[in-house]
Amino acid sequence: MDKLREEGYLLPMRNDAPRLPIGVFDSGVGGLTVLRALRRRLPAESFLYLGDTARLPYGTKSPQSVERYALQCTRQLVARGVKMLVVACNTASAVALEPLARAWPGLPVVGVVRPGARAGCAATRSGHIAVIATEGTVRGGAYQRAIQELCPQARIVARACPLFVPLAEEGWTSGPVAEAVAREYLEPLFPPGDRRGADAPDTLVLGCTHFPLLAGAVARVVGPEVAVIDSAQTAAAEVADVLEREGLGAPQGTPEPTRFLATDDPERFARVGGLFLGRTLAREDVAVVDL
Ligand code: DGL
Repeated sequence: MDKLREEGYLLPMRNDAPRLPIGVFDSGVGGLTVLRALRRRLPAESFLYLGDTARLPYGTKSPQSVERYALQCTRQLVARGVKMLVVACNTASAVALEPLARAWPGLPVVGVVRPGARAGCAATRSGHIAVIATEGTVRGGAYQRAIQELCPQARIVARACPLFVPLAEEGWTSGPVAEAVAREYLEPLFPPGDRRGADAPDTLVLGCTHFPLLAGAVARVVGPEVAVIDSAQTAAAEVADVLEREGLGAPQGTPEPTRFLATDDPERFARVGGLFLGRTLAREDVAVVDL
């Protein structure tokens, strides 16, 4: 028992839990789009963010590897003291929520797949929803299942768009290259002549942390009549509900500055991460950890 506690597998009961930060992890910098929404929705909370940049991308790895990585990321955050966990990576949310709940019973965990599915179901009028995500997320069918569960009549098409990930990291989020790639991926789902037709989806869920950066290019391809959904806001609302329900909300006051951990080069994390977070990050803001 003590060994498990030492390794961070059991949570000590702490009276000061509301003052602890919320732990957030992603395969890299993409989850900073989720952190940004969390900070906006929960200004009194402190955050500890871990980006597993050494092993990015998760989207091309097997479910077994992604599950193992998610357990290691969580162990690192729990060992540093967090009151709840946000899995800000769609690929990890798709496979690791149950293993995480088994490993840390009592640790509230919110992923991004269900909130994205919920937002998609709320937005659709025709019930025809498209999901774009990494290869792993699409292959495992987690979005398809979550949408079907919430909205059993839904017709769902899903497509992996792996090239969006390096484009976002390169900062090539608009312009001819981003639009050409978006066209290649999305036109089969939204044929130019039929975007308003009965057969085209009316809602597109961005099921990957990197894709909100390309939302402009995506919207230009799918047209203004399609609702483009970013799950970050819905996920932040779900986190707020959990904090309230569990009595874990931070007391009013100034939160601690967000702490950033990365498993690889902090310089790159800070440079690319700034694009995702929407503000400058300094190399000194990022500590390197080994999982
Ligand atoms: N964070 C991942 C996701 O949301 C995208 C990047 C990756 O493949 O690791 O699925």
